[in-house]
Amino acid sequence: MKQRVFSGVQPTGKLHLGNYVGAIRQWAKHQDDHDNIFCVVDLHAVTIPEAVDPKLFRAKILEVAALYLACGIDPEKSTVFLQSHVAEHSQMAWLLNCLTPLGWLYRMTQFKSKAGNNEGVGTGLLDYPVLMAADILLYDTDRVPVGEDQKQHIEFARDLAQRINVMFPDAKLKIPAPMIPPAGARVMGLDDPTAKMSKSIAETKNGHAIGLLDTPSRIKKAIMSAQTDSGNEALFESAGPGVRNLLDLYEVLSNQDREVIEAEFHGQGYGKLKKALVEQVVGCLEPIQARYHELTDSPDYLDQILRHGAERARSIAGATHERLRKAMGFV
Ligand code: AMP
Ligand code: TRP
Repeated sequence: MKQRVFSGVQPTGKLHLGNYVGAIRQWAKHQDDHDNIFCVVDLHAVTIPEAVDPKLFRAKILEVAALYLACGIDPEKSTVFLQSHVAEHSQMAWLLNCLTPLGWLYRMTQFKSKAGNNEGVGTGLLDYPVLMAADILLYDTDRVPVGEDQKQHIEFARDLAQRINVMFPDAKLKIPAPMIPPAGARVMGLDDPTAKMSKSIAETKNGHAIGLLDTPSRIKKAIMSAQTDSGNEALFESAGPGVRNLLDLYEVLSNQDREVIEAEFHGQGYGKLKKALVEQVVGCLEPIQARYHELTDSPDYLDQILRHGAERARSIAGATHERLRKAMGFV
């Protein structure tokens, strides 16, 4: 039996190279080894309601689904669906809510950084990890391929599953493990290498991120103006954060060994590294963009994949939800 993999991306902001190398590329790469379920987590996206305009939101949801396929997710090998199409996600989240100590939620770093002292934020923002735990646990997931920033959320899902299995042994929830890539798990902003490349910052700040749908000239501009330092060191272990970020991206995209990369770029001035990285990025994104445009030309095809995906997802999620319901004593 193949191990089950589940993951998702929120349809907010602008999907970027960090999302690709940290998450989606890993999903695509290991498709043959796993039983794969990939979800566009649209219910998570509305935890920041001010970011949501219904028309844009709808378009963004379909864009992310099309990008999954364009990045190499093969619907013959993977189930692709929209979270809101499978009601069990919300239903499971309610049961999990009632079994989650509030203190666990207040401790989550994402909530603390997004909410700050603002008591006006939606309750969904606090509850975000519970819905994510529901996503993962509904599919008896073995592994969750994500970037490093999601580690705490997966630990939360593990802790919650363990707690529930003690309270209700018949629930038999599977304990999931994170699957974090050895390189590319934390791509930093090009304009500020001390901050993670982020979809929301990318929306408003040119030069912060490389969008998966950016034109070659935009990609070139962003990389050529990436923040580096005044030296010419291109050694992985001693490079400053800006150069290290460029080196890491080059390593991930070129599949070359570190020694080869260092021999090529060390002591050369960063222009050479930047130009070579532009080539790698453009070369990587070109086929993805071509496929994306093909897919957006045939919306019926995407619609059919998503319907079919939701059907399969529902059949798995329904059984797990029912198992927990019964274990808790519901009639
Ligand atoms: P999000 O943008 O928060 O919806 O993230 C979607 C997926 O991309 C998650 O698995 C994240 O861990 C991953 N991810 C987001 N930003 C980065 C980044 N800067 N570097 C690597 N992975 C990332
Ligand atoms: N929180 C994740 C992110 O922002 C998205 C997500 C929601 C997710 N549910 C998930 C990722 C389940 C993996 C598994 O990136």
